[in-house]
Amino acid sequence: MKNALTIIWVLALAATGAWAQTTSATTTPATAVASGIQSQNILDVKPDANAESGYTTQTNGQRALVQPGNNAPMWRQVGSGVTGYSSLPVSQAPEAGVLIQPFVQYPGSRLTNAGDAWRQTRNHWLIPYGGSLVVITLLALVIMFFTKGPLGHDHPASGKKMERFTSFERAAHWANAFAFVALAVSGLTMAFGKFLLLPVIGSTLFGWLTYVLKNVHNLVGPLFAVSLLLVIAIFVKDNIANAADFNWLRKLGGMLGDQQVPSHRFNAAEKGVFWWAVTIPGLVVVASGLVLNQLVPGLGELRTDMQIASMVHSAMAFWITAILIGHIYMGTIGTRGALEGMKTGYVTEAWAKEHHELWYNDVKAGKIPAQRDPSVKPVAPATGSPVQV
Ligand code: HEM
Repeated sequence: MKNALTIIWVLALAATGAWAQTTSATTTPATAVASGIQSQNILDVKPDANAESGYTTQTNGQRALVQPGNNAPMWRQVGSGVTGYSSLPVSQAPEAGVLIQPFVQYPGSRLTNAGDAWRQTRNHWLIPYGGSLVVITLLALVIMFFTKGPLGHDHPASGKKMERFTSFERAAHWANAFAFVALAVSGLTMAFGKFLLLPVIGSTLFGWLTYVLKNVHNLVGPLFAVSLLLVIAIFVKDNIANAADFNWLRKLGGMLGDQQVPSHRFNAAEKGVFWWAVTIPGLVVVASGLVLNQLVPGLGELRTDMQIASMVHSAMAFWITAILIGHIYMGTIGTRGALEGMKTGYVTEAWAKEHHELWYNDVKAGKIPAQRDPSVKPVAPATGSPVQV
């Protein structure tokens, strides 16, 4: 009996509550509009909140009154690069309060948040066009090799030799060349590995490979920087343009015929490589690399610094890689006898006369010292390489 009474009492209470809710929902809408949530169903709420005047300029607090849970004003502010509160000191983390960077337009990107603009420039321009440049260069060299073949003539190795590079010049050159190859291989893997290697070798191996190569890239960078400065300092004096270079260029370096055009120690093409692939882009790629490694005080703590440095670094790196692939071709299989000079320091007089006749004449006339390497005995033998001590 007592249980039955309790059940009747609970049912009565529930019925009263339900009736009360129905009544308030249907008979007192004005009260609900004034005080918070008007309905569980957004379609029941009239007029629509976005019909209110000033809807688009509402603060997050104002929006919460008419559309609880709609945080669009806050996210719009975050997306516009507003600086929020961060407990980290500004001196150490100047951008810690900025969740999303403001809008910018980087070359080739749409006007969008800087992070996305950087991604668009990298993925839509730098990677595809940089990669194409390198591939086109390789194809052009393959075509050149099979149509034109190596430049110059064979000269008997037993012929009379003359000094072309000192041991210091060669050491600086080879340190730089070694560093360049390591940087190019690791850099290209970081840029294209995701598309070319990952599908073939799988993510575990690819993860390890890129981890190792990224560290190789960071460690070899300083060797490239120092040896680059040495190479520039050593070779700059012989890479200043002169009248003979214009003559060389006018005749396209003798490429259309079988005769080399006379040049000084380096010809116009070598000088072009020196300035436009080694010196200027080399310094830019090193400077931007230092920013990316956060080694330049005051630069590299803002995401914008990093994005700009990254775009400049990749653009220059692709350019240098393409041109230096050409340089490596010409220095190895592309020109008969050229590698000998950089390997041993000596070339045959016949090679010097054929490829750098004006330089050969100057050495023979005593205008340029025949023996510059201080580690070599002053008197050079008539044939073969002088004895190194
Ligand atoms: C495996 C890579 C490389 C090979 C096989 C190579 C080969 C050569 C050869 C054979 C020469 C002598 C050319 C002559 O006697 O006229 C030379 C000169 C030179 N190389 Fe390389 N090289 C390589 C990488 C590099 C790199 C990475 C740089 C700089 C970033 C560089 C900068 C130079 C410069 C500045 C010269 C002197 C020519 C001039 O100043 O115009 N080389 N190289």
